[in-house]
Amino acid sequence: MPLDKHDVAEHFARQFHQPPRWIVRAPGRVNLIGEHTDYNDGFVLPLAIDRAIWIGLRPRDDRRVVIHSVDYGEVQEFSLDDLTNGKEGWVEYLKGTSWSLQEAGHKLSGWEGVLVGDVPLGAGLASSAALEMATARAMGAVSGFDWQPAEMAKLGQRAENQWVGVNCGIMDQLVSAAGRAGHALLIDCRSLEIQPVPFPEGVAVVVLDTSTRRGLVDSQYNQRRAQCAAAAEFFNVKALRDVDLDLFQQLASDLDDTVQRRALHVVTENDRTLQAVEAMRRGETCALGVLMYKSHVSLRDDYEVSSEALNAMVEVARTHPACFGARMTGAGFGGCAVALIEARAADDFVQHTAAAYQQQTGHAPAIYACQATDGAQVVQGDD
Ligand code: GLA
Repeated sequence: MPLDKHDVAEHFARQFHQPPRWIVRAPGRVNLIGEHTDYNDGFVLPLAIDRAIWIGLRPRDDRRVVIHSVDYGEVQEFSLDDLTNGKEGWVEYLKGTSWSLQEAGHKLSGWEGVLVGDVPLGAGLASSAALEMATARAMGAVSGFDWQPAEMAKLGQRAENQWVGVNCGIMDQLVSAAGRAGHALLIDCRSLEIQPVPFPEGVAVVVLDTSTRRGLVDSQYNQRRAQCAAAAEFFNVKALRDVDLDLFQQLASDLDDTVQRRALHVVTENDRTLQAVEAMRRGETCALGVLMYKSHVSLRDDYEVSSEALNAMVEVARTHPACFGARMTGAGFGGCAVALIEARAADDFVQHTAAAYQQQTGHAPAIYACQATDGAQVVQGDD
């Protein structure tokens, strides 16, 4: 069962012997389609899920932030007047978000509280973005500023880029900030315009965690970004978002082979994402599933960010009759795949896929259906 506000209140009461003044949550995400397109000003279609980071908190009289992490069994604290980068550890996400909020002119107040989550770490479900958005929501509650999802997402991304030092795009923070229950979000990563797209009836989203975690994700990720930037320069456009298949086919033969394949993925993936939205709106789940499989092949062969474990998981999922489509989700190289399945066959699908994957790879996976939820919110206390 996912965590809920009662669990958070209990953890808070154990530390502070009274109920929390506020409880906030910010969800992780899975991305249905539109992978490695966000930093190309392109389109993505993620959903916020019922796995989240939670903070229970009360105000302090001074400008200190004191947090008990239930999962790490650890207390960390810092002063809002003296933010210094400690380089490592979960508290850097809270410090970095506080830093970017203050840089943007928000007046922050001190607080103390408990932090607890059930977004698995490093699995490609955006646990860092969830932690940044939970911090921003907590800061907003105690300091009394409004929740503007796009602004908060950009400040979370800034914290991650400049404080933590990971060069991510905007997708994870924005869906964690702005998710909508029962919907995926079509996000235009250039304008940051968001269109919620409802799930068709009878369809379930399943997270398939391969239980593999890869190092080198950051360096590979940065290399892909650099290749995309080089391709955009070659096509003489601001970002690969501005290249369609016609333009690509006219000019691409003069591009270096690797960069050509990277660009082909981005160009086709943007197109698939917009087609996926149309399919979803028309309730054409089979068509949506086919686009997901195609996305996986493109990520595997052209963008080269998949892994043996992810490929095995997608192939195994595909053999189940209730599966409409499956693909790796997130940055890649390990972590999770996502599948779209017929909801009434969910239990059978989970059992079948878990057993077949384990038999084939020797890894014990974690496979579970998830719900599309609202984005970061104040669950208890004044907003
Ligand atoms: C990570 C990044 C996102 C996005 C995905 C790939 O999750 O944080 O910004 O680039 O990888 O689609």
